[in-house]
Amino acid sequence: MADVQPSPLTGELDMSQNEFWARPPAGRHAAYARLRAMSPPAFMDPGENPFGTEERGYYALVRHADVSEASRNPGVFSSAAGATSIFDLPAEFNEYFGSMISMDDPRHARLRRIVSRGFTPKMIRKFEEDVQRTAAAIVDDLLETGSCDFVQEVAARLPLKIICDMMGIGDEHYAMVFRNTNIILSGADPEFISENIVEAQTQILNGGFELGALVTALAEERMASPADDLVSALVSANIDGEQLTPAELASFFILLVVAGNETTRNAISHALVLLTEHPDQRALLLEDLDGRIGPAAEEIVRYTSPVIWMRRTLTQDTVMNGNAYAKGDKVLLFYQAANRDESVFADPDRFDITRSPNPHVGFGAAGPHFCLGAHLARREITAVWRELLTRVPNIRAAGEPDYLLSSFINGIKHLPCELG
Ligand code: HEM
Repeated sequence: MADVQPSPLTGELDMSQNEFWARPPAGRHAAYARLRAMSPPAFMDPGENPFGTEERGYYALVRHADVSEASRNPGVFSSAAGATSIFDLPAEFNEYFGSMISMDDPRHARLRRIVSRGFTPKMIRKFEEDVQRTAAAIVDDLLETGSCDFVQEVAARLPLKIICDMMGIGDEHYAMVFRNTNIILSGADPEFISENIVEAQTQILNGGFELGALVTALAEERMASPADDLVSALVSANIDGEQLTPAELASFFILLVVAGNETTRNAISHALVLLTEHPDQRALLLEDLDGRIGPAAEEIVRYTSPVIWMRRTLTQDTVMNGNAYAKGDKVLLFYQAANRDESVFADPDRFDITRSPNPHVGFGAAGPHFCLGAHLARREITAVWRELLTRVPNIRAAGEPDYLLSSFINGIKHLPCELG
């Protein structure tokens, strides 16, 4: 850590305040534009540390060039002190939430190698068929239900079923998995989590405990009689004798169900808002659904950035893009701000499904932690929207989205829809 920290930013650009994140999207993006214009990057003080460890503050990396450069240099910009929390997490949290996303190589590489078994061509073919079938079934149900909460009835269902199917989790557990992933990524939203910090920590730990217990029980079953699912693949050793320990399995499972659910669901929901607000883009998409659905999914991820940031911590003094950082400094890589960087994207605030090229960093920038589920997420977004636009082409948002109050996930909790 630098001996002298810069003065933290205060006022309306202070990202440590809930007010920053409670703004409507246009206000937030105007604030990002002002932050991108600052050099060196603004320093934020997140205030009281709920875990009682020493507080440090962080630099807000909001430019595409900084997010890309930090991602490609994991030796200097380390994930080991935690990637998903501004504060260093105490040991009991790391038991559940300390998976590979918060590790550096070689530990990270070993885990990623093992879990990549879930993403072999055979596994991918299997889940692609499952995605297609499930998307069709969800739209069958929607046509019967009619107007409803799009998040609950459409967007949430696909990622939840697919990730549970991959792991071999039966549908009797869906409600528990859904409740706990919501709690774990609830941010500061009182709909899901207590406003009392001690109670909130207990809720999050309980969520991790319940999910961990589920996969531990499943792992024991699969060790006795392996099935054609990811848990079976993870608990059996590969040719090099590598396999996950029970603790690694639990925390990886939690990472996967949380990352698999809380991101894709929001991309699918945001798409309904965007296609309602931009009828010209819907018309373009309907004109050539097969040709444009892929680029449209990329633009949805760029424009909305369901994951807002990841953290890195400096392992040494360094200079990046002309700015100096000291060993121990924390930086937050704001993908959502980088995805509107005017030096990379022409007219960045325009939602344009024909944008090409579209070098967004919604799944992370190039580097070892690039989203493991990017391919699956793209499949899910395109499959459900292809079904919707083929069978319910006039579906629209029938009211304002109810946004999640969080600095980390750009979420929509509820969204009324009508079929048109
Ligand atoms: C639209 C949907 C999604 C978005 C926007 C998203 C975004 C991200 C981002 C920004 C990262 C961090 C990249 C970095 O630090 O460099 C990440 C990592 C990760 N994502 Fe996703 N993700 C999505 C869907 C998924 C799905 C469906 C899965 C699971 C099947 C998944 C599993 C993971 C995992 C396991 C990591 C950690 C990879 C590592 O540390 O090596 N994600 N994702």
